Amino acid sequence: MSLRAQNVAVAIGGRTILPPVSLSCDPGRLTALIGPSGSGKTTLLHCLGLLQRPTAGRIIVDGEDATEWSGRRRRRFWAEDAGFVLQDYGLIDEDSVAANVTMRTSLLRGRPLGDADRVAEVLALTGLDGRQADPVVQLSGGEKQRLGVARALYRRSRFLFVDEPTASLDAENRRLISGLLRLACERGATVVVATHDEELATVADVTLALGTLPEEESA
Ligand SMILES: Nc1ncnc2c1ncn2[C@@H]1O[C@H](COP(=O)(O)OP(=O)(O)O)[C@@H](O)[C@H]1O
Ligand SMILES: [Mg+2]
Repeated sequence: MSLRAQNVAVAIGGRTILPPVSLSCDPGRLTALIGPSGSGKTTLLHCLGLLQRPTAGRIIVDGEDATEWSGRRRRRFWAEDAGFVLQDYGLIDEDSVAANVTMRTSLLRGRPLGDADRVAEVLALTGLDGRQADPVVQLSGGEKQRLGVARALYRRSRFLFVDEPTASLDAENRRLISGLLRLACERGATVVVATHDEELATVADVTLALGTLPEEESA
């Protein structure tokens, strides 16, 4: 499952917020979008994940032009192929950790559904062992950030879009997260991360510095 951006640009109200960029993201590879705050990393990530339509250029998913996909087709892409860890985490505070991982709760008593073994596995990977039943409202910012990653790993989606996953983490947990993004790559996912964390950028296979030409780096 490959993903290409061809001369993708975004302007809002006549102001360019993302100058034209071209990029290829491939299975098993970690692509980092880097650049200072306000350089358009999140905007480009949202375009690649089909959350936002570019003003110009094309997004190609597996050789198919996805730029004008209908809302229904895009929802299928999100449901079947894409996992997101966005900056607001997108967590449901009132629900338990496990329910946020699986995104499935029984209507009776809010009990989490899904594969309990896989929930335990992704919580262990993200340093949230045994936290299944905790309400998310009790989690710290860094724990919520790791829970967002746990949810994305649980889905085992073919594309993974991650925005600033290490922003509120200490050095140890930053390394944990970069290791997990590499793990998702090893499992065959196409991973794209927007980050201003230089350490995270160094573990990427491909780095796109916004405002400059793409640069290939060996893993
Ligand atoms: N919906 C929007 N309307 C107007 N300006 C926006 C919008 N979204 C982002 N911007 C602006 O676009 C620029 C790039 O933003 P963003 O993609 O969030 O950058 P980054 O993630 O690199 O910090 C910023 O100047 C931001 O203020
Ligand atoms: Mg951003």
